[in-house]
Order: sequence, then structure tokens, then C-alpha cells
Amino acid sequence: MVKKIRSCVFISGKGSNLKSLIKNSRDYNFPIKIELIISNNIKAGGIRLAKQYSIPYKFFPSDDQKKFERNCLIEIKKRKIKFLCLAGFMKILSSDFIRTFRHKIINIHPSLLPKYKGINTHKRVLKSKEKYSGCTVHFVTPILDSGKIISQRKILIGKSETEDSLRTKILKQEHKLYSQSIIAIFK
Ligand code: GAR
Repeated sequence: MVKKIRSCVFISGKGSNLKSLIKNSRDYNFPIKIELIISNNIKAGGIRLAKQYSIPYKFFPSDDQKKFERNCLIEIKKRKIKFLCLAGFMKILSSDFIRTFRHKIINIHPSLLPKYKGINTHKRVLKSKEKYSGCTVHFVTPILDSGKIISQRKILIGKSETEDSLRTKILKQEHKLYSQSIIAIFK
């Protein structure tokens, strides 16, 4: 059996990317095992998933960033976590925290980076009348949404596309792209 890398997923919301990661990580050959889920939102749907799949989870409020990161580090160390995946985690981590895990934190973003970094991606994409959008998995560096790109998926924007339909369309691609990117990293 492959020796799986002990990993943690950070979430803030619904957790649909987390769900696909959990499912794929159960595959015998998938390179990571999710040993911890951290949420900065007590109401995150992903917490329900953690319970459902019996994965250890922690809720840490992130209004006090230093305290949040200290709490995360303690837990990460305790559980010997070596790899971090941000999946809809909507808080910007400090440079110090990110540097501690250089090349060991990845993120998924719902645009074709380097275009549309930051929030409200779909709204801005539609406003700019783009023909294509998509999603990107990239390494996390101290500069927001700017680390080395691991992989991307592109979709065609329909004529009557709305923010919601675009989000749904791209999320479907995200669910495939995130796991494929992890496989590619550890190949
Ligand atoms: C996803 O679309 C993800 O790419 C995005 O939040 C959504 C989370 O959905 N992340 C960001 O915008 C990060 N800047 P999920 O909770 O269902 O996985």
C-alpha cells in the first residue's frame, strides 16, 4: 500500500470540494489521507461531512489571526500533518504561516488564474463578458492567489449564464481538478 501523506483540509463553507477529496482519498492509490479538517466557521457544511466520515475536525475562530494560526499549528504538529489543502477557505493566512509550509500548501480558486484573483470571481468574470472561465489549483505563497499553478480546467461561458449557473458549472470541474492535481504533485 502507498504510504499516504498525512494531510489537513481547511474549509469555511459548504465543503463540496472537501467531500470530493474525502471520497477520492479513500482510494487505495490516492497519495494523501485526510487526518484533520479545520474550519474557521462553526456553521460550515464541511463540519457535518467531517462527522459523517469520522474525520477529526477542529473549529477555530479566525477573528484573532495569530491565535487562529497558533491553534492550527498545535493541532497540525500533534497529528503529524505534512500537507495542507485549502478548499473554500476564505481567510488569508499570514506570510509566516505560509512560509512554515513552503510547497506544502495548495489552494483551489474558481477562475483561470492569474485572472480574477480574490473574491466575487464569477460576478467579475460575467461583468467583463469573458468567453471562458474555469478553475485553478496552485501552490500557496504569501501573495494572494499567485503561487505556481499546478493545473487548470477551462469551461465555456454560456450566453445566458448567471452567477449561480457558472458557480455550479465550475464547482463540478473543481471536484475533479483538485484530486487530479494532488495526484500530479506526488507522482
Ligand atoms: C469553491 O468554488 C472554491 O474554489 C472557492 O470557494 C468555493 C468553495 O466551495 N474558493 C475561493 O474562492 C478561495 N479564494 P466548497 O465549500 O463547496 O468547496
